[in-house]
Amino acid sequence: MKIFLDRQSPKPIYMQIHDRLSNLIQSGALQPGDRLPSIRSLAESVQVNKLTIIEAYNVLEAEGVICARQGSGYFVETQRVAATNLKPTFAPAQDVIIKEPGGNSFFDLHMAAVQAQTQPGMINLSFGFPRPPKDITQIAKRALNQTDALHKYDLPQGQTTLRRQITQMLIHQGLNVSTDDLIVTNGSEQALSLAMHYFVQPGDWVIVEAPTYFGAIAILENLGAKIIGIPMTAEGINLELLEQYLKSHCPKLIYTISTLHNPTGLTTSPEHRQQLLALAQQYECPILEDNAYEGLNFEPVPAPIKALDQNDLVTYVGTFSKTLMPGIRVGYMVVTGKHYQAILERKLFHDVHVSTVSQAIVSEYLASGHYRRHLNQLRTENLQSRNFMVQAMERYFPEEAKWTVPKGGLFLWVQLPADIPIQTISKEALAQNVLIFSGSAFFPDKQGYSAMRLTFANSLEEIEQGISILGKLLKKHLYRGQEKLFTHQYPQLFVTTSENDRYSKAC
Ligand SMILES: Cc1ncc(COP(=O)(O)O)c(C=O)c1O
Repeated sequence: MKIFLDRQSPKPIYMQIHDRLSNLIQSGALQPGDRLPSIRSLAESVQVNKLTIIEAYNVLEAEGVICARQGSGYFVETQRVAATNLKPTFAPAQDVIIKEPGGNSFFDLHMAAVQAQTQPGMINLSFGFPRPPKDITQIAKRALNQTDALHKYDLPQGQTTLRRQITQMLIHQGLNVSTDDLIVTNGSEQALSLAMHYFVQPGDWVIVEAPTYFGAIAILENLGAKIIGIPMTAEGINLELLEQYLKSHCPKLIYTISTLHNPTGLTTSPEHRQQLLALAQQYECPILEDNAYEGLNFEPVPAPIKALDQNDLVTYVGTFSKTLMPGIRVGYMVVTGKHYQAILERKLFHDVHVSTVSQAIVSEYLASGHYRRHLNQLRTENLQSRNFMVQAMERYFPEEAKWTVPKGGLFLWVQLPADIPIQTISKEALAQNVLIFSGSAFFPDKQGYSAMRLTFANSLEEIEQGISILGKLLKKHLYRGQEKLFTHQYPQLFVTTSENDRYSKAC
């Protein structure tokens, strides 16, 4: 295999090899199931160290593009073929939501999530938890034997080894970061809170995507921010409306989930990322990029917006809650420039530092190579269950339902006709042991259109059963009182009204 390397280029050699192989796979020159050259032969033919090839293969493997088979080498991932056949049908109307104060239900939603984990026999299509890593007990024991960190206080920004490991991971994702840009946090929820309290004062306007993660809405609400929900399109936040509100409301922060968005599962394109950053620059509005599901992609995803940021405008947040275990409470944030010290001081007086035990376990897991294998397994299982769920929805759901087809993560988003009684359907589904999540929780003020977030991180049997029960309930309510089943008129999808004029002010 011939790979042209530009040794003068600032792009690292392993990334040049990665890009070339990625292109060969995207273009079909390398087909699913094809074996890649051995590490030794490729290293010889392009005249680089074997470690450089291993790095390139590691990144491709982390992106879910290739997989290693014990003793046989590396192969182009076969599961990718099925993925491209499934067409998303998500096309929501576009209404901006201005949140009124109050009505925050994050506490109730969190308690429901805790309960959902412990209900035997329940098919949980609502909250997504990663499948537990198999080898964690043994790794945890080893980590505890090796660390004396329990006996002392540690750095507020987190243990140096762990920060180095996370930095390596982020460099593979395309970020240009150093260990000194990183703060390890108690889950990404704490990172969001630290950043939001730093950038936003009570009474400031903040832009969020609508729908978005309710835990972020809760922090903003709690700190007294005024929230503007700009609608998501199938490509990401509506950039035209975003610009309009950047101009009229001078917000102090844009909160975005650019990769494997919660709840829609969408991932924005490199162009969308560039345009969003350009707008933020033009209107001098910082971005908080919360990519909690990064790493769970089974198709390639672009580098985070932070990778494009030259002006310390973007704060990037990640977590091990979705890839490893939520209970370990290890998240992290990349904060560059003058913001770092100010946020680090806040971290110190919040809780000094993240538990050294949690940090040691994650660090040992990363060092052992188990993490990469675990991620690959999660991706393979999740891809299979996502495909299975989409196919089941095609079989059982009414044709009026529309959904996203995510490139990874744990969720997809189903958009429903406006007059469907989603709360009643949730109750009836629960009576049949199926737990679902009404989409309203993800909209500021719960004002959004009728929708549900469904997690596909379940067994195929559970998906089949859960989706068939839901499909029957949806059809029952949708076609109630109608003579023929398939003559339903698609209703107006949105119930919200734009209140731009009422709130707009000169900057
Ligand atoms: C988008 C997003 N961000 C942040 C979090 C918080 O996760 P944690 O604090 O466990 O890292 C979640 C949890 O569901 C999430 O979905």
